[in-house]
Amino acid sequence: MNNIDALVRGRRSVRTFDERPLTQQDLEKLCAFMQHAANPYGLPVEFRLLNAKEQRLSCPVVVGTDLYAGAKMKIAPHLNEAIGYSFEAFILYAQSLGVGTVWVGGTMDRPAFESAMNLSEDEVMPCVTPLGYPAAKMSLRETLMRKGIKADERMKFGELFFEGSFSSPLTPERAGKLAHPLEMVRLGPSAVNKQPWRVVVTENAAHFYLKRARGFGGGVLDMQKIDVGIALCHFDLAAKEAGLTPIFELSDPGIPAKDGEEYIATYRF
Ligand SMILES: Cc1cc2nc3c(=O)[nH]c(=O)nc-3n(C[C@H](O)[C@H](O)[C@H](O)COP(=O)(O)O)c2cc1C
Repeated sequence: MNNIDALVRGRRSVRTFDERPLTQQDLEKLCAFMQHAANPYGLPVEFRLLNAKEQRLSCPVVVGTDLYAGAKMKIAPHLNEAIGYSFEAFILYAQSLGVGTVWVGGTMDRPAFESAMNLSEDEVMPCVTPLGYPAAKMSLRETLMRKGIKADERMKFGELFFEGSFSSPLTPERAGKLAHPLEMVRLGPSAVNKQPWRVVVTENAAHFYLKRARGFGGGVLDMQKIDVGIALCHFDLAAKEAGLTPIFELSDPGIPAKDGEEYIATYRF
């Protein structure tokens, strides 16, 4: 995947599609990508294409397409971060083809989608996305929804990223080579645009944390851990594109939390 910057800045959630079916070529490319959407946790993710009309699936925020991709996984530790990484890589790949997507974890008839995915008892389906070409104009519902959750806004660099401890906000200047990968994290999508990712940069590592928003409790399916998985994906792809060699690790550096931040993972250089 090339030019992460353009893909990350060019992506937005698309909920209004123009009714055109995907070209055979785009469909084949997406299917090929689905076969190998890996993640640093090494957990397999199974993607399936679904048809809302034929399988009677409803996702009320979406108009103008019947095609969806769903993803399911075996229940395992770190499944949320893993799906966040793999599914976001798929979303960015779709973006590179001009195919619109939106992460959907909540606003859908979940039982119908889960049954269409043939979910077994030891599996979960964290999310789905519609697939299609974006319409020129958003539906009124989508426009209002974006306004309601301030979907075009993001927190400031120094509110999300820190140097050494949660008490020292990081500046892009001090972040050096990590400034761009971190900016790619900042611009990412998150459930209800809560942006729960935090990163503490130390001499040779970036430690990722979850700062849980009130009312977003963690269960087996944890949308906010998925958000941090998305952050890991953007960071890793941007760092690699910049010629860095991030090494993924699960080793809590023991940095004291300031406001309930929960350690998730580290990229070491
Ligand atoms: C894990 C996750 C779950 C989401 N679930 C939904 C959803 O159920 N319905 C919906 O309309 N948007 C959903 N979104 C999309 C977010 O609302 C959107 O990413 C955020 O508002 C930022 O807007 P943007 O994607 O256009 O940058 C979800 C996003 C993520 C990352």
